[in-house]
Amino acid sequence: MSQTLIKNIGLLVTNNSEIDGTPLGLIENAALLIEHGKVKWVGASESAPSADKSIDASGKCVIPGFVDSHNHLIFAGDRSKEFAARMNGQKYEAGGINYTVDLTRKASDADLLSNAQRLQHEGLHSGTTTIEIKSGYGLTVKDEARSLAVAKQLTEETTFLGAHVVPNEYKGKSDDYVDLVCGVMLTEAKAHAKWIDVFCDRGAFTTEQAHKVLKAGIAQGLLPRLHANQLEQGDGIALGVELDAASVDHVSHFNNSDIEKLANSKTVATLLPGAEFSTRSAYPDARKLLDAGITVAIAADCNPGSSYTTNMSLMIALAVREMHMSPEQALWSATKGGAQALRRSDVGHLSVGANADFVILKESSYIHLAYRPGVNLIDEVWQHGAKI
Ligand code: NIG
Ligand code: FE
Repeated sequence: MSQTLIKNIGLLVTNNSEIDGTPLGLIENAALLIEHGKVKWVGASESAPSADKSIDASGKCVIPGFVDSHNHLIFAGDRSKEFAARMNGQKYEAGGINYTVDLTRKASDADLLSNAQRLQHEGLHSGTTTIEIKSGYGLTVKDEARSLAVAKQLTEETTFLGAHVVPNEYKGKSDDYVDLVCGVMLTEAKAHAKWIDVFCDRGAFTTEQAHKVLKAGIAQGLLPRLHANQLEQGDGIALGVELDAASVDHVSHFNNSDIEKLANSKTVATLLPGAEFSTRSAYPDARKLLDAGITVAIAADCNPGSSYTTNMSLMIALAVREMHMSPEQALWSATKGGAQALRRSDVGHLSVGANADFVILKESSYIHLAYRPGVNLIDEVWQHGAKI
């Protein structure tokens, strides 16, 4: 039986609050025993069991692998010119999505797969051990189904986002497009998808249309989540709570009624600081959500339009600096918060029985993730008990 012991860990973040009464469940001078890809034992290094193999992590901090619960990796091309135009004063509009749709439709399955693999690999090497991937740049029956088939090769967390934007050929006929999404597009997509999502916002879909799409997905066995209130205040958060969505994402605008609804629900608020960064928009104040007892996740939202990054350490730094989160809250949100946004209990923490997905940092504390922004602090990444 092959066991590996990570010993003499300077500081271990377990995210098991039973350990020290705090959300991060910290242990100094800790050890982690791994067997068959799972955590077998966790505790003080001095009382650790012996193992076939051991690794010394003196002076280093070990954290759960990042759970990045919101990404759009199935696309072709980039939108660097659009980004440059924004940095020159232009506003971000949902319509830019159709530029990527054109290129994605023309790309082969093999090209879509290799681009998504490249980005997943980039994320994995920066500590992301669980990733969610959406469709949403195909927007035809065939292109959405093949986008999801590609995504399914990379993760079990696949999301059907046929209702990302109204494609050009349906301009002025958004209700007809919604009927297509809820009908044959959903029928073809559902075999490859776990989740259903919709972009409920200005320039995309109305709350009524979003309701229809999510209900259709739920009726076909998919689980709801949605893009809500990125560009303006709307009813997307209320809709998510009403349908028991696992997560409402972006949440860049919210009012007191949204806070109250989220606080009385199981729905996670997933913040995407990369989108505010790359669209030069105002960051939401995470503290208002956290003070109300709402579960907050943070994710990279990797996509070619609004946030072309896979780097969760950067998301933590932005969430701390710009969204008023503490380093502890941001780390929790990037790990266990992301797991809760995907309704997963096997990832995002390092308790006995959890997946042995973790990151060894080059520094002695997780605080450095925000304190040393832009610096690669990832020493080793382990996924399912193996060093990648
Ligand atoms: O989450 N907001 C909608 N979808 C993406 C952006 C997609 C794009 O601009 O290509 C997002 O930010
Ligand atoms: Fe998104």
